[in-house]
Amino acid sequence: MCGIVGYIGKRQASEVILKGLQRLEYRGYDSAGFAILDDDMKILKIKGKVDELVKKDKEEMTEGHLGIGHTRWATHGEPSEINAHPHVGASGKFALVHNGIIENYNVLRKDLEKKGHKFTGETDTEVLAHLIEEIHDMSDIDFFQAVQQALGQVKGTYGIAVVHKYTPDRIIIARKGSPLLIGIGEDEYFVASDASPIIEYTKKVVYLEDEEMAVVTRDGYEVSTLKNITLTKEVHELAMNLEQIEKGGYPHFMLKEIFEQGGTIADCMRGRLMVAENRIQLGGLEGVVDKIINARRVVIAACGTSWHAGLVGEYLFEYLAHMPVEVEYASEFRYREQLVDERDVMIVISQSGETADTLAALREAKRNGAMVIGICNVVGSTIARETDAGVYTHAGPEIGVASTKAFTAQVTVLTMMAMLFGRQNKTLSDELMQELVQELKTIPEKVEEMLRNTDEIKNIARLFTYASHFLYLGRSYSFPVALEGALKLKEISYIHAEGYPAAEMKHGPIALIDEHMPVVVIAATDHTNEKMINNIEEVRARRGRIISISSDGQSDVDRLAEFSINIPEVHDCLTPLLSCIPLQLLSYYIAVNRKCHVDQPRNLAKSVTVE
Ligand code: G6P
Repeated sequence: MCGIVGYIGKRQASEVILKGLQRLEYRGYDSAGFAILDDDMKILKIKGKVDELVKKDKEEMTEGHLGIGHTRWATHGEPSEINAHPHVGASGKFALVHNGIIENYNVLRKDLEKKGHKFTGETDTEVLAHLIEEIHDMSDIDFFQAVQQALGQVKGTYGIAVVHKYTPDRIIIARKGSPLLIGIGEDEYFVASDASPIIEYTKKVVYLEDEEMAVVTRDGYEVSTLKNITLTKEVHELAMNLEQIEKGGYPHFMLKEIFEQGGTIADCMRGRLMVAENRIQLGGLEGVVDKIINARRVVIAACGTSWHAGLVGEYLFEYLAHMPVEVEYASEFRYREQLVDERDVMIVISQSGETADTLAALREAKRNGAMVIGICNVVGSTIARETDAGVYTHAGPEIGVASTKAFTAQVTVLTMMAMLFGRQNKTLSDELMQELVQELKTIPEKVEEMLRNTDEIKNIARLFTYASHFLYLGRSYSFPVALEGALKLKEISYIHAEGYPAAEMKHGPIALIDEHMPVVVIAATDHTNEKMINNIEEVRARRGRIISISSDGQSDVDRLAEFSINIPEVHDCLTPLLSCIPLQLLSYYIAVNRKCHVDQPRNLAKSVTVE
């Protein structure tokens, strides 16, 4: 989703901004632009990729040491050069980039039109640029106050950066609902919607909270609330490094991230899976474990892939800790009758820690008195900061829009949580605990082993590159994996795919099966395998093409499938950590064969910061 980068200092601002916009491409976008201040203000915008903006900049040769840039993911108004940011008011004095949605833009626009303002595009953001200008020109106030007063009239969400042609020594930024941070360099400052565009210049950052604003100049920054109370902010040190956000020889970030999973799962367990002591230690949950296990119920809220991880978590919590769990789409939870209260615990799962619906569900649950636990990947993200306690997944920056390593890290965290709760609850026996601890320890090397030979997956991908539909079936722990496998394929190859609990096939999807329908059967869990074999027979009887994912040694499944991919044998409840990997690769290779834009699939955003 939209990205912001701004710069003030001694470098050429356009260079920092263009490179920053390229680093922000992973968020998903359809147009881009920037404004640079020198003696004058110059604005360049394009529809399409940042490379086009780079070309345009070479032709125009923009010069200046202060500027703001933006990648836009269309909400109001189609992707076009006119609708791309920055936007300016009638006289072109103020330029503004904006993430989020101004909900009352229509009312504001009509009012401004009555006052003579003419609009060129259809965006909500342009209205805010005009509003700032109107307020500034109609009263005797400075640039900062004009932005502040304009925001006072705005309903909705925003992360904004604004510059003023006649005050070319500052950038004004403000946040409500859309993340923004200030990067502190030496005699130079950066603003950005996430850390990726600034990591090569500085690791020192200040995060803005909702309803906070800042003035950023060459000499420093000053943060205050929208109501003008000056704040002293903590300076955070970023944990990520540049290497983590570069491709490292892989053709795509997604492939790099799939191949990193042995390491990321190991990182996630480091210092937490205490093998010698046969126990789990989760520092982020210290002091709250009893409250969690004694809760009336646990509600897991998340979106997309994180929601699938939540479903795996449900099976794990029920099996290992005998805890009642409900998994909710965050977007649905927040509009339902709120029956969550202080007797309940909510767990929110989010890679980015910024997903608008997940954040709203968190806030709703907190308002009702529930304790909220976070499972986040991005350190210092809004969700991580607003939860009462939590566990980081430590998967490192995930750049590919389709989530891979974050998913396995989330499932690893949920597995460790379930084990910890199961021991505390006394529902998890010594023997099983020992078995799981030993097996978890071997997961990273099993992942590495699987990734050493991907030939069969490439072969299957080649044969099914032009399939129009796919069905994914699984039972028990493999059901959420089936959903996740189907989502991966949809996201990056644009093939229609559905995931189903295998038994539900008879209640509808079986009508679709013929010799053109590839059916991916995830038959990795021993305790449901007999039943899965029946489902495979049902598909075969209708000439569906079976691709099976089964554990080593499940010869019955292999015999019945047209293609089969084996994963190393592990306890049933750990199979999602392995069985999802061939599915990630299958969708990756199919998408590459179809020449799709793997890392930035059409219409998708990495971090969905609008509702
Ligand atoms: C977007 C991304 C998905 C992600 C979902 C939830 O749709 O494209 O990959 O699973 O948001 O994001 P979160 O950051 O909250 O896990």
